[in-house]
Amino acid sequence: MKPKILIARAIFPEVVAKLAQHFEVTSNQADELWTSAQLIERLKGKQGVFTTGGERIDAALLAACPELKICANMAVGYNNFDIAAMTAARVLGTNAPDVLTETTADFGFALLMATARRMAEAEHFLRAGQWTRWRYDMFAGADIHGSTLGILGMGRIGQGIAKRGAHGFGMQVIYHNRSRLDAATELECKAIYVSKQELLKTADHLVLVLPYSASSHHAIGAAELAQMKPTATLVNIARGGIVDDAALALALRNKTIAAAGLDVFEGEPAVHPDLLTVPNVVLTPHIASATMPTRLAMANLAADNLIGFLTQGKPVTPLNPAVLVTP
Ligand code: GLV
Ligand code: GLV
Repeated sequence: MKPKILIARAIFPEVVAKLAQHFEVTSNQADELWTSAQLIERLKGKQGVFTTGGERIDAALLAACPELKICANMAVGYNNFDIAAMTAARVLGTNAPDVLTETTADFGFALLMATARRMAEAEHFLRAGQWTRWRYDMFAGADIHGSTLGILGMGRIGQGIAKRGAHGFGMQVIYHNRSRLDAATELECKAIYVSKQELLKTADHLVLVLPYSASSHHAIGAAELAQMKPTATLVNIARGGIVDDAALALALRNKTIAAAGLDVFEGEPAVHPDLLTVPNVVLTPHIASATMPTRLAMANLAADNLIGFLTQGKPVTPLNPAVLVTP
């Protein structure tokens, strides 16, 4: 008998078809948004679930679904998983790293450039019919080339952004991370390790690429924003909750910093109302990994984790490999 799996959201039809070769699949191609109770109801009796980053997998769900063995996230971030509870319940978690690194780094750079050069603000101005004459300082922003790029969170995506900045735009790159990179990687990224305080004070542009956890909650709040240069830009492509959005909206309004570019928000898809009313912010709806080839690669990786694990005990990108070891 084929194992049973649930696909929690609409995904590429070819990936549903691939999974159907191995599993009895319950899919959600209508893309309904389920409550936790509805998710649990549909997950009962299933051995695997394909999640997309928004579905909370916690102790209560695991207790209600004792047959569940694997949760495969179609995202590199997995703060929707309570990994400790999953490990305790001997449920494997997998994420979708690597395949999205370059695409996401491209977007981080695009958002940085749009923010520093005030592209969104300028476009609104033009569309509103306000462009009637030239002016010497019209939408004059900050330079990218030759400036100092600060990166908080130097994983694969952070390194991708560092390389773009150092090699493509002649930027000085500084970074802070829980652990320092090895010398060869630092050289490849032309990146210099500094304290978080030094990073805040020195960066002309600060890009956040760290994972969300209890310890990174509000890593950038009022106190950190106050240490940044008034000409600085801040870009968040990591996770909502890493930035205190209320404090950021206030800092943007008061020109504590010059501008921000945000792809992720606390409580998304809701956006703090104050961010919607300040002009010096570029807002995008969590699309940093959104190119068709990359989203397809992420979906295939999640599918390959389900297939590899449930048919041969061999996941591709396990998060808690301890559960693979027979106790
Ligand atoms: C997207 O935010 C991801 O974690 O892949
Ligand atoms: C995080 O896992 C990253 O790829 O930056």
